[in-house]
Amino acid sequence: MSKNVMVIGTGTIGEPLIGLLAEHKDALGLDNVVFFKRTPLSDEKGKVEALLRKGAKIVSTSDALSDFKKLGFTDIEDVENTYEDVDVIIDCTPSGNDNWENIYSSLDQSKRFMAQGSEHGFGPFFAWGINNDVLENDSNRYLIASCNTHNIASIVKTFALDQSRELVEGQFVCLRRANDVSQNDSFSPSPTITKHSNQEFGTHHARDVHELFAQEGKELNLFSSAIKLPTQYMHTLWFTLRFTDTIQHEEIMENLYSSEFLMATEKMSSNKVFSFGRDHGYHGRLLSHGIVAEQSLHVKDNVLTGYCFTPQDGNALLSSVAGTVQHYYKDNWTEKMKTFNRYIFKNI
Ligand SMILES: NC(=O)c1ccc[n+]([C@@H]2O[C@H](COP(=O)([O-])OP(=O)(O)OC[C@H]3O[C@@H](n4cnc5c(N)ncnc54)[C@H](OP(=O)(O)O)[C@@H]3O)[C@@H](O)[C@H]2O)c1
Repeated sequence: MSKNVMVIGTGTIGEPLIGLLAEHKDALGLDNVVFFKRTPLSDEKGKVEALLRKGAKIVSTSDALSDFKKLGFTDIEDVENTYEDVDVIIDCTPSGNDNWENIYSSLDQSKRFMAQGSEHGFGPFFAWGINNDVLENDSNRYLIASCNTHNIASIVKTFALDQSRELVEGQFVCLRRANDVSQNDSFSPSPTITKHSNQEFGTHHARDVHELFAQEGKELNLFSSAIKLPTQYMHTLWFTLRFTDTIQHEEIMENLYSSEFLMATEKMSSNKVFSFGRDHGYHGRLLSHGIVAEQSLHVKDNVLTGYCFTPQDGNALLSSVAGTVQHYYKDNWTEKMKTFNRYIFKNI
């Protein structure tokens, strides 16, 4: 049986994900990486060309094929002929739930479908290394946790759950970059507050992490706020965790250094961390779940406070790959994921 994966969308998430899958397809044991590009745009010709060079194949809808051919992409297939051949579909559009209704729900349901964090309700949350077991349930649809959900979940897992420390409450402020360096829209000229539209959790960030852990029966007391800042670099997370028992600073540092998914840094600004990712990450992304500013960690009695940078969308990308590899290699998928260890650092 061929192992063929299709990525829908070539935007901020889709573009690096296609590259990540295509360039590592031999190590991951995949045969073909196909991407669906909806709109033939001459200003995106270079992007498509680069993805083809990485070994991916392009498909589109029948009405767009001739325009893609005019742009020089003669080796393009009709997506309708491709659905049958792929076993994993990763939606990287802001329309994952609509695409489910209109397209995916009528395809063969032995396929695995994944959508990105904003498509709440698409399926159970999955974050690589946080709740791997969820991939073993009966669902054929998963919602890849968003970048900030990965970060918050990692903080909670590393400093509370993995240490069996009883968490009384966790509070988080997502200091969000206005838009990605790849985007023109939605820049913010000044700090702009997100409404606390969720009575219980504040913003959707704490709600999503609560739901993720509730899937395995853990009900956590979490609250989040968010504010958009006039920067294009990366999100930064402020967090405070209050435990039942007193904690020690040395223990917290040990927990950080032994975490598989958090890295530590002495850098105190997001541009310095971003710049390291640009030079040494994949497609400019760090692939850890979060980068803790170790000098920000503060312990007083039973309270831990600190800051953690969110590595753009690198964590969601790796979870999308993990959800793909696990579909094919139930027994040794975590071994195959070690391919990416070269992009993971302990301290930057
Ligand atoms: N950016 C982030 O940091 C980030 C992080 C975590 C999660 N997410 C989530 O990931 C999803 C994608 O975000 P993004 O930032 O990558 O978006 P984006 O940069 O705006 O790209 C969207 C892509 O989706 C395609 N597209 C849009 N609607 C489509 C449809 N109905 N059918 C097929 N293709 C469609 C567009 O294709 P054409 O241009 O060819 O039309 C474009 O390639 C969103 O749900 C977002 O909330 C984003």
